[in-house]
Amino acid sequence: MAPEQEAVRGGERSGPSAEKPSGAVSVDRVTHQDVPAICSLYRKVWDPAPPGVPGELVKAWQPTPLEFTSWMGGVTYFAARKDGHLVGVVGCEFHHGTCRMVHLVVDPEVRRHGVASALVAAAIEWAKKGNVASIWVDSLHDLGPATALFQRLGFTLVGVLHQHEWGEDVNFWERLV
Ligand SMILES: CC(C)(COP(=O)(O)OP(=O)(O)OC[C@H]1O[C@@H](n2cnc3c(N)ncnc32)[C@H](O)[C@@H]1OP(=O)(O)O)[C@@H](O)C(=O)NCCC(=O)NCCS
Repeated sequence: MAPEQEAVRGGERSGPSAEKPSGAVSVDRVTHQDVPAICSLYRKVWDPAPPGVPGELVKAWQPTPLEFTSWMGGVTYFAARKDGHLVGVVGCEFHHGTCRMVHLVVDPEVRRHGVASALVAAAIEWAKKGNVASIWVDSLHDLGPATALFQRLGFTLVGVLHQHEWGEDVNFWERLV
């Protein structure tokens, strides 16, 4: 089965034809048709900026459709869908024998329902297919939910770059695959 046809729910996998209960989360590869919905989701997540997150950063995290299309070069993006709506995104980039996750967001209206967990599970599967040693991600030190998520999903804090982005500390999380 091609990776883009696979569906992941809360870390459990099911085939595309499997019955999914209403409200189930599915994850698949994004296509160019998804670009407007993805850009709307990034705007919804980062506007207004969460407390403690510099305005310059949230501006950079809200791409225009043209900018997001250019992000897609070299990065494989996965979208989570629930009840037909695009509710989460993550990008995966192979880098020197590792897989880096980028631009992970979940719609505030569906948080704490396993959407990010399903996206990270899809990213881990993608990393395994790429035969890399580890998957890693960086997050601002002050983004508490991201810290809780990566700890919960078995990532280890492997480093901190102090005052790395617009004066903010950045945590580096890694998990072997
Ligand atoms: C971080 C984020 C992606 C989490 O998405 P989510 O779909 O709500 O996460 P999940 O439902 O899969 O959470 C899995 C576990 O992570 C932990 N967790 C996630 N969000 C948490 C929060 N706000 N507070 C405490 N623990 C949290 C919990 O252990 C949770 O399990 P539980 O709900 O059974 O207790 C989401 O809050 C988000 O989009 N934040 C803004 C963007 C961001 O910070 N992205 C990460 C940049 S690297």
